[in-house]
Amino acid sequence: MFAAARQTSSLAKRAFSTSSVNNTRVAVLGAAGGIGQPLSLLLKLNPLVSHLSLYDIRLAAGVAADVDHCNTPSKCVGYGPEDGGLEKSLENAEIILIPAGMPRKPGMTRDDLFNANASIVRDLAKAAAKVAPKARIGVIANPVNSTVPIVAEVFKAAGVYDPKRLFGVTTLDIVRASAFLSGIAGTKPAETNVPVVGGHSGPTIVPLLSQLPEGKKVVEQGGEQLAALVKRIQFGGDEVVKAKDGAGSATLSMAYAGADWADSLLRAMNGEQVEICTYVESPLYADKGVSFFSSPVQISSEGTVGEIKPVGQLHPSEQKLLDACLPDLKKNIEAGVNFMKQ
Ligand code: NAD
Ligand code: LMR
Repeated sequence: MFAAARQTSSLAKRAFSTSSVNNTRVAVLGAAGGIGQPLSLLLKLNPLVSHLSLYDIRLAAGVAADVDHCNTPSKCVGYGPEDGGLEKSLENAEIILIPAGMPRKPGMTRDDLFNANASIVRDLAKAAAKVAPKARIGVIANPVNSTVPIVAEVFKAAGVYDPKRLFGVTTLDIVRASAFLSGIAGTKPAETNVPVVGGHSGPTIVPLLSQLPEGKKVVEQGGEQLAALVKRIQFGGDEVVKAKDGAGSATLSMAYAGADWADSLLRAMNGEQVEICTYVESPLYADKGVSFFSSPVQISSEGTVGEIKPVGQLHPSEQKLLDACLPDLKKNIEAGVNFMKQ
């Protein structure tokens, strides 16, 4: 009890103690779900957020009432689908996170979620294009490789598409790569930053372990340890789906990753130099029909896509992973674009 109270007051102090501009309005669509709830809590604790709008087709008012009692300066308001709640939740939103959609069950691939989630993401994107066309959008709903192109097509159709404002949140892959490699190498996770490029599903997830000293060692040794590490990073989501045994997929680590992604934009908007791997419209492999790709991206002071950096030097084993990623990613992107042509 005492420890919890001390923790609460130090969180509140952190939330009050910033000298930065804490005036950013954030909306979470799908806020009552397994990801949405802890993500909303973490955003409420972020001192750079001034207002949090939570939208869901169920329970959003309750989640917002609960989260709003955390004694941090931001205000949190919930909206359901009645009385134009979706549009109200998006008014003046500057960052929109979309975790709305079905999660996997054992035996499913992320692509198996396409039929359920494509139309959910499309409809939420239509509302965002109408009410908050200038917001930065972070898509969490799977299959990310396809849902991000869907949002792009919706914004194009509405005549408001700015590729610099649209992101797929692939941060969980980076978080996992850091956790798993530091576990092997004995390094500090916070200082073990593995670039993960490509997309967000199985073979489209390409960890570039050779680009940091502790990863380079593992890559050069090769063998079973490398194969197991790469597989664990690419299929970390399956590990959680299996362990949850039908009750869904990663929620808490995803909320952590989503809050970290949002914090990267917020810090960049407050003058910090920030570079993250994130899935954006990208020229890097456009000549191969891959128009969206995750690579290191400099976040501009507007919280938008700045310089898109190339993948850098690859070990031959990483080049193989990249070669395998591109055709799959191309198909996933085409699926999203074709869905919007129907
Ligand atoms: P969940 O079922 O617990 O929550 C989803 C929420 O979305 C529910 O509260 C539901 O009511 C809401 N929802 C459904 N349709 C909606 C609509 N039209 N408008 C608003 N809200 C709507 O699922 P979850 O575990 O939170 O996962 C959500 C999504 O995130 C899934 O598609 C999952 O695959 C994906 N995911 C992505 C990553 C990633 O790395 N990008 C990681 C984990 C999960
Ligand atoms: C993940 O990587 O955990 C998410 O994409 C959820 C999933 O279906 O694996």
